[in-house]
Amino acid sequence: MSESNEIDNLLHESRRFPPSDEFRAQAVAKADLYTTADADPQAFWAEKARDLHWHTPFTQTLDWSNPPFATWFDDGELNVAYNCLDRHVLAGNGDRVAFHWEGEPGDSKTFTYAELTAEVKKAANLLTALGIRQGDRVAIYLPLIPEAVIAMLAVARLGAIHTVIFGGFSAESIRDRVNDAEASLVITADGGYRKGRAFPLKPTVDKALAPDEAGQATTVKKVLVVKRTGDETSVAGWQEGRDLWWHDEIAQVDSEHVAKPFPAENPLFILYTSGTTGKPKGILHTSGGYLTQVAFTHKNVFDLKPETDVYWSTADVGWITGHSYVVYGPLANGATEVIYEGTPDTPHPGRWWEIIQKYKVSILYAAPTAIRTFMKLGRQIPQQFDLSSLRLLGSVGEPINPEAWVWYRDVIGAGKTPIVDTWWQTETGAMMISALPGITTLKPGSAQIPIPGIAIDVVDERLHSTGPDQGGLLVVTQPWPSMLRGIWGDPERYVDTYWSKFGPTTYFAGDGARRDKDGDIWLLGRVDDVMNVSGHRLSTAEIESSLVSHPMVAEAAVVGASDETTGQAVVAFVITKASHADDAAKDDAAAVLRAHVAQQIGAIARPRQVFIVNELPKTRSGKIMRRLLKDLAEGREIGDTTTLADTSVMTAITDTMR
Ligand code: WTA
Repeated sequence: MSESNEIDNLLHESRRFPPSDEFRAQAVAKADLYTTADADPQAFWAEKARDLHWHTPFTQTLDWSNPPFATWFDDGELNVAYNCLDRHVLAGNGDRVAFHWEGEPGDSKTFTYAELTAEVKKAANLLTALGIRQGDRVAIYLPLIPEAVIAMLAVARLGAIHTVIFGGFSAESIRDRVNDAEASLVITADGGYRKGRAFPLKPTVDKALAPDEAGQATTVKKVLVVKRTGDETSVAGWQEGRDLWWHDEIAQVDSEHVAKPFPAENPLFILYTSGTTGKPKGILHTSGGYLTQVAFTHKNVFDLKPETDVYWSTADVGWITGHSYVVYGPLANGATEVIYEGTPDTPHPGRWWEIIQKYKVSILYAAPTAIRTFMKLGRQIPQQFDLSSLRLLGSVGEPINPEAWVWYRDVIGAGKTPIVDTWWQTETGAMMISALPGITTLKPGSAQIPIPGIAIDVVDERLHSTGPDQGGLLVVTQPWPSMLRGIWGDPERYVDTYWSKFGPTTYFAGDGARRDKDGDIWLLGRVDDVMNVSGHRLSTAEIESSLVSHPMVAEAAVVGASDETTGQAVVAFVITKASHADDAAKDDAAAVLRAHVAQQIGAIARPRQVFIVNELPKTRSGKIMRRLLKDLAEGREIGDTTTLADTSVMTAITDTMR
């Protein structure tokens, strides 16, 4: 389906789902949230912040005197881990389950708040023994096992800064991140489980930390290794003096640990995300404002009743959703959650639904790509399981098309659960646009309205609000508590990327959007060179630079082509240095390059297709016209070619693609 067709269909989407009286009556969110927040957004957020435990209460809310550099609750002091752990135990909820963890092979473990607190205290003592202090950077490269959550909270407890690196990333990606953050410690595992197999992690870390060609070592002093798979070959590269087993070390530390207060603006984590250049950006988040907004949104958007709900976000902690809505939001709210290590289809395609049945999950938060995959497999799979515990469904990461939305509600939600489609970004830290269940009349395909206390607009290039049903650019016009505080080590890039298009007080999100007559917002995808594959961000520039790093390649252009399942897919057009004898030779070259990208960046970046071409479409000034390549990759009629230096080039490319 072409892009304009899609937008057209969205314009005609007229199904409406008002909240049921029953849901409304019991809902956490009340409509007066909007009126209170509108009247005084800062006072509203200050009130929400006071739901947290402050060792030193704040007296200032927002300082925006030096935009785009903001501080929130600046003179207050808190401990993020204490808010997620100790205070629940002290409130008498130590026996409540914090999470049920389910391993892919079928092993499982449950941690109450008291047990999780005890584990994090020990881990904090261990990290202290290894020299970690406030402000130090700790890289975490783990599968989705309990130690991932424990490690993050232990780092937070010490006022240190974690940078979690998704377990699918390559040695080079780890190295870049570790170097940029100047991390002194890496926490990893021997391996993890995925798609029914044990995969090694430790060898990738070994490779990442080995001295580079110039003999330059990284800043990492120690590597803590969790034993997950027990595969001996994974730890063949063990380095005495550098590498330590988590279980050995943790057995030797004290179990008591007192959480110290840290300033509200103490950095909490750096999370790397793809931008429009080849170098990933280290998005920096701090403590008080971040925790305030993730806790508030988690509670109100998911209608959380911590005493009775079982919440499951399927995200990995390697992504922002895992930070905000697996670790910090739910635990700050004292929720009971489910954490699942593996893939949805292992060992059978009903694994997710089996987990929901097993733990009586009541709130599910997932990505549209997964929903569309299940939709293709057919409703007979979920229908084999008892999903009657579900009462609310969430979506995140990419636009959810109305068909998938309705399927999700009908088949997974028994035709009655509200669905909240939540728009936000690594940079925003927490949800920014979403319906509130029990209040908002739902529209399939629309993320709907700003969260109370958040100011969003859809504008044209001159910052004028666009009219109803007109496409424009999504901007945030007021600072918000969980906003990124910068790009690690690069304040200039922070200003340039987000706050220069419209001036230093308007955050440019990089997304296109449209507001309908009712004021509901429909997201239309990225307007920059960032792709969204299965809800994960990739930059065209990063993949292009990986391709040209291969000796075979002369030039490369990458586009995100729409894909029925993954939203977008990576499609590359490559000019090679040598010519290829025949189609078979071209296929071989394409296979080599696909593998090369997967090896350099990670499997998630592997192009769906690599086309070996003789030329690329360029403007007279030599800029590659990706728009035309996107038309080709999506099988669409090629758009306006008048600005091409050589208009015959498109025909030549089309011919070589056959
Ligand atoms: C896209 C993920 C439409 C968007 C939390 C954004 C969405 C990017 C939605 C951020 C949604 C996220 N509807 N698009 N509900 N949620 N996006 O940083 O393009 O991994 O800019 O954060 O995902 O991706 P990120």
